[in-house]
Amino acid sequence: MLQDKRVLLIIGGGIAAYKALDLIRRLRERGVHLRAILTKAGGEFITPLSVASLTGEKVYTDLFSLTDEAEMGHIRLSREADLVLVVPATADLMASMAHGIARDLATTALLATDKPVMIAPSMNVQMWNHPATQRNLRTLEGDGILRVGPGSGDLACGEVGDGRLADVMDIVAAADRFFDRAMVANRPLAGKRALVTAGPTHEAIDPVRYIANRSSGKQGYAIAEALAALGAETILVSGPTTLPDPAAVTTVRINSAREMLAACEAALPADVAVCVAAVADWRMADDAAQKIKKNGGAPPMLNLVENPDILATLSSRAKDRPALVVGFAAETEKVIEHARAKLGRKGCDWIVANDVSPATGIMGGDDNTVHLVSRAGIEDWPPASKADVARRLAQRIADHLKEPTA
Ligand code: C5P
Repeated sequence: MLQDKRVLLIIGGGIAAYKALDLIRRLRERGVHLRAILTKAGGEFITPLSVASLTGEKVYTDLFSLTDEAEMGHIRLSREADLVLVVPATADLMASMAHGIARDLATTALLATDKPVMIAPSMNVQMWNHPATQRNLRTLEGDGILRVGPGSGDLACGEVGDGRLADVMDIVAAADRFFDRAMVANRPLAGKRALVTAGPTHEAIDPVRYIANRSSGKQGYAIAEALAALGAETILVSGPTTLPDPAAVTTVRINSAREMLAACEAALPADVAVCVAAVADWRMADDAAQKIKKNGGAPPMLNLVENPDILATLSSRAKDRPALVVGFAAETEKVIEHARAKLGRKGCDWIVANDVSPATGIMGGDDNTVHLVSRAGIEDWPPASKADVARRLAQRIADHLKEPTA
């Protein structure tokens, strides 16, 4: 879990600062990218050189240093981390954090950060038990600050009790658990399988001509990418498009509706299927083996038959119907009315409906205005980019799979 994580380590001024050096080694062994701020008091216990040697990075010490600020302003320093770790967190640092005091680089970075902060307190037992420190601790807990330790035992000052810095390996484990939990929270679809169809289909008339439509595939690709970003193992079955394969998605490229259906069936089982493809309604009953010639006579009659309906087929699978089947309805009039009818006709659970009349610019464009139609009712979503619509839909899908409602 720690591999490639970015941690900003703030080293406070306590005798336990020397243990921060061991912590740096243990975190680096696990692939953590570390930057460190050494407070002035911390610098009384360990040297910037030892911190720099172990982190392999410049050590930041001074809020008003031209070189520090020119290289990496305190705001950037506080933001370019996945976790801010304060080790040791002295009574003074805790008090500053609790009261929003920013009087040096460390406390300014702690006030400026928008990232989770974990403290490992270390101090004399009386300082730890002092009502002021305990009050500050409650404030910090209320602010969502995470904590590991302190432990209990012999203290460097000769007294015995609470206030010992947590064992270095316990701090490593706490950081590991934090990233583990963050990953689960950020990836609510981990362990789920998602199937998405996108793009148009091409139905051959003869070896050089085909029936097609104007679908760009953008919305479907964005949905596949958003589902994958939430942790779903995602298969995108795509008709011909000019788009690159989305990140972290298995993309299966097909041409015709029948190929799309076969690829979808091969991709089952899935927890959710989102049919965004603009599947051609008809194909040639018999496509010509050779290019049809003009021959100067009457134009050829195109004898069409209906294509399989992929959305309806997936919705009616007996054994392996996905728990949630979502269709799209691109309409040019009576958008909601048609969407409701489609919900019944196709047997799917949700219809994402949008108005694609030419004036909207939605077809092929980057934005979309949609309505989520289910048997529970209609949600009107505000106009948004196709990427935002995709992210919102993916989150909605994750919520539904956790607690099916509508
Ligand atoms: O019937 P209509 O094409 O308007 O329905 C649109 C919805 O049905 C979309 O979700 C589309 O992906 C799906 N569909 C399908 N197979 C078809 C036709 C439409 O999956 N042959």
